[in-house]
Parts: sequence; C-alpha cells; structure tokens
Amino acid sequence: MDWLLAAITGYLLGSIPFGLLLTRAAGLGDVREIGSGATGATNVLRTGKKGLAAATLLLDLAKGLGAVILAKFLWPHAEALAAVAVVIGHCFPVWIGFKGGKGVATNAGVAFGLAWPIGLAYALVWLGVLALVRISSVAGMTAVIAAVIAAAALGYGEYLPPLVAIAAIVIWLHRSNISRLMRGEEPRVGSPK
Ligand code: G3P
Repeated sequence: MDWLLAAITGYLLGSIPFGLLLTRAAGLGDVREIGSGATGATNVLRTGKKGLAAATLLLDLAKGLGAVILAKFLWPHAEALAAVAVVIGHCFPVWIGFKGGKGVATNAGVAFGLAWPIGLAYALVWLGVLALVRISSVAGMTAVIAAVIAAAALGYGEYLPPLVAIAAIVIWLHRSNISRLMRGEEPRVGSPK
C-alpha cells in the first residue's frame, strides 16, 4: 500500500503544470505553443518573463523536493519510487495530455530530497555548466548524470536506481535538443526561439 500511495502522490504532485498555470495566469497564452513546447522554466523564459521563469523553476523544484520529503516521512521504504513518480508526473502530466516538461528542475528537488550532498552536486554542476555554455539542455543533461556519479561516489548506492531511471527519462526527453545540438542549432538561454 505504501508503494502505491508514494507513487500516486508523487505522480499527482509532479503533474501540476506550474509553467503552464503561471503563463496562463499572466495572460501569456499556452507556453506549449512556443519554443520547444515544454512547460519547464527554460521555455517559460522564452515568453520574455524572467520572474515567471524563476517562479516555474522554484515551484517545479519544490514539487520534486516535496514528493521525496513527504515519502521520507510517510512511506520511507518508497522514497525512491516517489522520486521517480514525481519526475514522471512532471514530464507526463495527466491533466494536460501527458505533455509536460523535461524533468531537470523537478529532479533538482528530488536530488536535494534524497540526500543534500547529491542535491548540492546537482546544483553546482547545473549552474556551473549553464554559466559556462549558456545552453539549458546541456546544463540539465550534465546535471542529471552528475547526480548519478555523485550518488555513487558519495556512498548513496541505494539512490542509484531512481537517479539512473530519472536520468534515462530526462535524456530521452532531450532527444530533440540533442539533434539540435548536433546541428549547432540549439538556442542559448534567453534567446527567443
Ligand atoms: O530543462 C529543460 C531544458 O533542459 C531544455 O528545455 O525548452 O530548451 O527544450 P527546452
């Protein structure tokens, strides 16, 4: 029962499409009709509203953190499942036709929730790579891989299965970004495309 509750709660929390809700509330229309079509902070930034993008990032991160912390308290044996479920909810939200974001911000919250050193490694790599190359997808994909390496290197082997599963989902969802990167056409952060 614990497993089911952790999975359903995580999924439903992850399914809240903050990027879409915030942009709609601001009268900016449907964020899925611009840029990459994703509901995450990077695409919200393409509306030109930095504050909304920052709010999307923080709320998407908070739901990842919240799902894992909730599971830690209520269903401790199922925290890894909650971690994967919240990212799946964010990427495939039931409310909006299963087309959401790509999981990078939500997984930042998950990483901090599982173990703060993994979260710290994730955040440092994410922000460091972003500052260096200014391409959100490169920073995000590097960070999800960094979380796996950090878990292995810092003795959190029990978190490797969820982090590897999440990394696979996140990288799979970035396949159009990878194609653009290979063509040299991936936009930099802040670019309107
Ligand atoms: O977190 C998503 C980011 O890595 C890529 O977003 O909209 O450029 O596909 P986007």
